Amino acid sequence: MQGAIWRAIGAAIVIVAGAIAQPAAPATVTQAVFGKMPDGATIHIYTLHGSGNLHLQARIMDYAGIVMSLEAPDRAGKMADVVLGFDTLPEYLANPTQYFGAIIGRYANRIANARFTLDGVEYKVPRNNGEASLHGGDNGFFKRVFKSRVLPDGGLELTYLSKDGEEGYPGNLTATVTYHLTDANELKIDYAATTDKDTVVNLTNHSYFNLKGAGSGEILDHDLMLNADRYTPVDKNLIPTGQLPGVAGTPFDFRSLTPIGSRIEQNNEQLKIAGGYDHNWVLNKSGNALTLAARVEGPVSGRLMEVYTTEPGIQFYTGNFLDGTVKGKGGKVYARRSAFCLETQHFPDSPNHPAFPSTVLKPGQRYQSETVYRFALAPPPGRKQ
Ligand code: GLA
Repeated sequence: MQGAIWRAIGAAIVIVAGAIAQPAAPATVTQAVFGKMPDGATIHIYTLHGSGNLHLQARIMDYAGIVMSLEAPDRAGKMADVVLGFDTLPEYLANPTQYFGAIIGRYANRIANARFTLDGVEYKVPRNNGEASLHGGDNGFFKRVFKSRVLPDGGLELTYLSKDGEEGYPGNLTATVTYHLTDANELKIDYAATTDKDTVVNLTNHSYFNLKGAGSGEILDHDLMLNADRYTPVDKNLIPTGQLPGVAGTPFDFRSLTPIGSRIEQNNEQLKIAGGYDHNWVLNKSGNALTLAARVEGPVSGRLMEVYTTEPGIQFYTGNFLDGTVKGKGGKVYARRSAFCLETQHFPDSPNHPAFPSTVLKPGQRYQSETVYRFALAPPPGRKQ
């Protein structure tokens, strides 16, 4: 296995040979050149080898911190790449607005009317989604080159300085995103940021998952649990109305494992507005402890993914805007609803909703956020508790 990886990445260099304390095979990271930006900047791809018993493997770029691939085994031990993406850098550059696998900043999801007021000053941010600003603007973090550093423990640290005024946001914001594949079969993402002026920040990762494997059809047959009693319904522009109604008795009730597709076509105004699910759920938690947010089980394969986060919300999106025009890795077509996103976050449009948990970051404070995607194998059918 290791030998195959070595051959595949050719001139890759082993940067790190992991932590002494780990009993399993040491976590390793290899680096290779992935391509060049139009301005000549070199983009690297890092391959993280998980030290857990599932032998997860992730490939992550210093361009937008994109998780390009994530391989996990099924019950028979067969590996599949469970995230959508492309094979080459030019394809990523040509198709930025699916945000496949990218870090989203400075502000994940929408800001209404592309403006907000902070300390009495109105800030205008790019209007790139109807009246709203989506995912940090036209040139958000999903288009930025990060500085990369391989950590002694086998992690990958990516840093980006977003200058004062970039995409309209105040303050020089230094953002650090760290990826680890842990010995507990987790892809762990730590986000940190500091600023020199009051600003707002809301970082996430926009990976699209299909637990059957990227490009293997719809995800409507996956079972989903969301640990949330409430959600944030939206207006016709997908901006939260500010209400936090209960999910009970609605197609938004995923408190126990339910097939994603079982209610998606119901005659429900919220589902119609978004063309499916594209909403933020209010996670059941107090404070910012790392807690279970979601569990997804893929059919047949037994691949199971849990999401844990310190964030108060999660955007569950069913790939409603995928339309089969994009060909991804291996030439596979990514049809509508052929992937789901679980984007951990503060609620959309929080800067315009004083009642929502605050996204304000001030000088001297440190924004910190953690999200873990934990992989496991579900019990075979018939053996469920
Ligand atoms: C988020 C948004 C969606 C859509 C996708 C990417 O999930 O909420 O509306 O923009 O990103 O297409």
